[in-house]
Amino acid sequence: MHMAVKPTALEVMTDAPVIPVIVLQEAAQAVPLARALVAGGIRMLEVTLRTPAALACIEAIAKEVPDAVVGAGTVRNARDAEAAARAGARFAVSPGYTRWVAQGCRDAGLALLPGVATGSEIMQAQEDGYTQLKFFPAEQAGGVPMLKAWQGPFGDVRFCPTGGINPQNAAQFLALPNVVCVGGSWLTPADAVERGDWARITALAAEAARLPRGSR
Ligand code: 3PG
Repeated sequence: MHMAVKPTALEVMTDAPVIPVIVLQEAAQAVPLARALVAGGIRMLEVTLRTPAALACIEAIAKEVPDAVVGAGTVRNARDAEAAARAGARFAVSPGYTRWVAQGCRDAGLALLPGVATGSEIMQAQEDGYTQLKFFPAEQAGGVPMLKAWQGPFGDVRFCPTGGINPQNAAQFLALPNVVCVGGSWLTPADAVERGDWARITALAAEAARLPRGSR
């Protein structure tokens, strides 16, 4: 994929086995962190809109790290989507699903990977044309057995489980035929980001990039 082009949700999911969920307190951390992840083989980066610095972080990565594809996480409404797109985000991830957040992302020109946790939410998202979904919070809402149960009625949906995934359980999720990738914050531990321990983050990313996948 050409890096100047905005990816589809499926391209965001297939690029690597793990989408890092990133929480940044300071804009100055964004560029070295993004470079560290890219050096480890992880290019699709979800920067959550959870901190005052988030939009500045997205902007800095979009401008200064051409090999990364920065997206916005925790997008909850049209305002978030518009602000993220203006800052340079190239895709959006939401913690839940509403028609309004979906419309907001379409208006902002961003592919959306929407969060779901129930059959009704999957049905609503599918009705609106979304077949690649984030399962959130995955471990807390039923984990691997839930994804296995969904293979029957929702066999055409592909998931990115996020929430409670770690290096110990990631492989179990990735082995499922309806899982393309997982999301998680373990690639960017708060203490490593604070200390600027970028080598550790590159090592965690490289380890994540090597995780085997059952399907894409
Ligand atoms: C989140 O919303 O913080 C993400 O789902 C990451 O969850 P995790 O910290 O359990 O990986």
